[in-house]
Amino acid sequence: MSKLLVNGRQRLEGTVSVQGAKNSALPILAATVLTGGESVIFNCPELTDTEASARILRWLGCEVTRSGEAVIVKNDGISRHDIPDSLMRRTRSSIVFLGAVLARTGRAKLSFPGGCEIGMRPIDLHLSALRRLGAEIRERHGYLDCRAPHGLKGCKIALSFPSVGATEDIMIAACLASGTTTITNAAREPEICDLAEYLNRCGAKIHGAGEGVVVIDGVKRLGSAVHTIIPDRIAAATLLSCAAVTGSEIVLDGVISSHLGAVLPVFEQAGCSLTHRENQLRIVSPERLRGMKIIRTMPYPGFPTDAQAPLLAVSCVANGVTVFIENIFENRYRHTGELVRMGADIRTEGKIAVIEGVSGLYGAAVEATDLRGAASLVIAGLCAEGSTEISGVCYLDRGYESLERTLSSLGADIKRL
Ligand code: EPZ
Repeated sequence: MSKLLVNGRQRLEGTVSVQGAKNSALPILAATVLTGGESVIFNCPELTDTEASARILRWLGCEVTRSGEAVIVKNDGISRHDIPDSLMRRTRSSIVFLGAVLARTGRAKLSFPGGCEIGMRPIDLHLSALRRLGAEIRERHGYLDCRAPHGLKGCKIALSFPSVGATEDIMIAACLASGTTTITNAAREPEICDLAEYLNRCGAKIHGAGEGVVVIDGVKRLGSAVHTIIPDRIAAATLLSCAAVTGSEIVLDGVISSHLGAVLPVFEQAGCSLTHRENQLRIVSPERLRGMKIIRTMPYPGFPTDAQAPLLAVSCVANGVTVFIENIFENRYRHTGELVRMGADIRTEGKIAVIEGVSGLYGAAVEATDLRGAASLVIAGLCAEGSTEISGVCYLDRGYESLERTLSSLGADIKRL
């Protein structure tokens, strides 16, 4: 198991480009199951999660190759409808293959994605929506066995919660359904818009992505397309956090500031100044940050739950109190115990975390237990006195393209052991 060693209190400087969005790449790779021909997906981040999706696509009969930051998916037909547990288990988000395989082949057999480090991750909204579209789904022995012998039929679907994954699953499945599907209370994340744009380039007819109501007119088949994935807004928030805790001035290149609408004001609240010009974002951080008062995680365009852990690390060294309310996942404060080992003053109770900023953290041996928690430990290590050894780097590699290389290029003293 590799580890990261961070020697703290190095000021960062320079310009760094933001990776492609993991949470856009994953549903788009799954959506290539619907297509015919060769799709080229530019700005696709190289992560263990995207590699896991590529493995599933190859298993299903696609040819997947990487050329630099582009992934090429050649789909001349899907030869299987089952995804083995060994491939499903590698990443939770593989559930989004369910709608794709079912819509393309009329059948899908895949293992129930287990819970994960941040919560139970139920899929009831996915299953009830696919059943409304006409799928017969049996759940047994940890497997989902789904059939749509007469194809899927468009219908109205009202989501009780704007689930990102359920919205994506339904959008993908409905592309090849007969008739029109309307999703109300759909998730509005930028990654939903990116997925819809790729599918429409392939010949789908999706309207309203990014709004609360998405309408999909089913078509007979899809072609292929060339598409560039949007920048990763959570990776951007993570890099901003690294700058904020080290009193640094850095420039992010290739970022869409409007995707960070609920995040940038939090950095300003902490005393950072942010200026953006075209697709560049400059952050200038103060010597000492201010507490950020209250941060509630919400569905987009609210404050993103994935940015909670990185900003919580920032709040640990701010002058004042910050209260987090985690409304999306039920177990997303596991990184706080490790931050306390580094001298942070944090109390959590259910959805609430209260952080009393301290004047400084000290390095320690800490363990990551989930993706964004791992990022919070790197951020804390960057500003801690002395060195911090972070284990569980495999979690970091699921969502960040060699974060240590990016940070080293900005002057951080960080290396992978
Ligand atoms: C996506 O997960 C992201 N993952 C998550 O990012 C992100 O935190 C989350 O959306 C919220 O923005 C990918 O896009 C691959 P949800 P997803 O369905 O689709 C409940 C990261 O760090 N729910 O919007 O699983 C669920 O339990 C990851 O990059 C149901 O109850 O999120 C949760 O409480 C972590 N039933 C809430 O909804 C369902 O059928 C939000 O889940 C589905 C979800």
